Amino acid sequence: MANKMERLCSGVDGMDTLIEGGYPYPSVMLVAGPAGTGKTTFTQQFLFNGADNGEIGLYFTTLSEPPQWVMHYMSGIKRLNRKHIGKNVKFCDIGQMLRTATPEELLAFIDEEIARTMAQRVVIDPITVVKDFLGNQYRPFLFDLVNHLKNWRAVTILTGEVDPNTAYPSEVAYAVDGVIMLTYEEVEGARRKYLEVLKMRGTNHRSGKLSFTITREDGFIVLGETF
Ligand SMILES: Nc1ncnc2c1ncn2[C@@H]1O[C@H](COP(=O)(O)OP(=O)(O)O)[C@@H](O)[C@H]1O
Ligand SMILES: [Mg+2]
Repeated sequence: MANKMERLCSGVDGMDTLIEGGYPYPSVMLVAGPAGTGKTTFTQQFLFNGADNGEIGLYFTTLSEPPQWVMHYMSGIKRLNRKHIGKNVKFCDIGQMLRTATPEELLAFIDEEIARTMAQRVVIDPITVVKDFLGNQYRPFLFDLVNHLKNWRAVTILTGEVDPNTAYPSEVAYAVDGVIMLTYEEVEGARRKYLEVLKMRGTNHRSGKLSFTITREDGFIVLGETF
């Protein structure tokens, strides 16, 4: 009998049914898309959903955005329970560290924080900024990072910020277990947002573009049909 894979819920309505119930646990995911498509919202829902079930979430920001700002932007979304902030959802700013640290120091720091917090859900938002600091050390760093992350009992989501005419950062996509792509498109004069699961190891996932929206009540939700 085949072993049933353990999975973690995404915290995004309409998402889990696309991927056989959730992300493989443990695994490393990439959520990629242009600025403003909803990557940060998507990952916050993942962390807060885990926290609602008593899990620990760890959010690394590479942008030196104070956690209060991130939460201020997210505070309009009713489903995120603010009582988790700093408790079951921990924020960690690695933006300053990126300016001076070696790849080895960065890896060691990320490992230590996961070990210390015992997080089952980890987010690095956005990973693509690291390229600006590491230059030609970025690819080997990504390879090592993903291998380290796969050794934890955790699901990690890396976010990838791309230009609107670039689908996803291929140097990250090849290393991870799953790729979810977010796009904007002009349809009949209106700007629509689409989500597509491009890759999900060990999962019979739905393919094709599905429309999604972001609302105050539910946050990021996948609507399920392409329209
Ligand atoms: N409470 C909200 N109600 C409606 N839309 C929202 C809300 N919060 C965020 N959004 C939408 O999500 C967009 C930004 O999402 P964000 O997760 O920051 O994107 P990214 O991280 O990809 O840049 C905003 O531009 C806005 O359109
Ligand atoms: Mg963001």
